[in-house]
Amino acid sequence: MKSLGILLIVLLLGSLFSCFKRFDRSGTAWAPGSFSSNGERIYFSSSSERGERITYTGGPNTGMMMTGGLLACASCHGTNARGGKHLMHMQVMDSSDIRWVKLEHEEEEEHLGYDMDDFRMAVIEGQHPDGKSLKQDMPRWNIGEEDLLDLANYLKSLL
Ligand code: HEC
Repeated sequence: MKSLGILLIVLLLGSLFSCFKRFDRSGTAWAPGSFSSNGERIYFSSSSERGERITYTGGPNTGMMMTGGLLACASCHGTNARGGKHLMHMQVMDSSDIRWVKLEHEEEEEHLGYDMDDFRMAVIEGQHPDGKSLKQDMPRWNIGEEDLLDLANYLKSLL
C-alpha cells in the first residue's frame, strides 16, 4: 500500500514536470541550416532567425490555455500549406490553402486575391480581404514586418 502511494506521487510529479516542459519552449534551438530560409523556419516553428518568438492570441478553443506558443502555421495549414480538414483536440479544423498562388488567385466576388497588405491583415488582425473576421481557429499573430515578408516569400515558393 505504501509503495503504491509512492508510485502515485512519482507519476504525479512526472506528469507535472512534463506539463512544464511542454509550455517552456524557449529552450528549443535549431541548428544552422535546419531550415532553408527564415520564412520556412517561421512557418514550421514560430521562431525567427532574428531571435524572436512569434506569439499569438486566439486559436482553437480547447478549454486549455493555448497562448503559450505551441502552434505554428504548419500545425493547422499542414506541411505543404495546402490546409484541409483534420482533427485537432477532438474538433474538426478546416484550414485554408495558403500557398501564395492560391491566395493570390482566391476567386470571390468581394475581392481580387491577396496582396501583401491583405496578408498582413489576415495574419495579424485575422481579417479576410472581404472585411470579414476569420474564424477564431486562426490565431492572431504578433509578427514583425520583416518576418512577415520572409513568411510570404516562403509561401510564394510553394507550388
Ligand atoms: C490553430 C490553427 C491555425 C494556425 C496555427 C494557423 N492558422 Fe491560418 N487559418 C486557420 C483556419 C482554420 C483558417 C480558416 C479561417 C476561416 O475560414 O475563417 C485560417 C486562415 C488563414 C488565412 C486566410 C486564408 C484565406 O483563404 O483567406 C491565412 C492567410 C492564414 N490562415 C495564414 C496563416 C499563417 C501565415 C499562419 C502561421 C503564422 C497560420 N495561418 C497559422 C487555422 C490556423
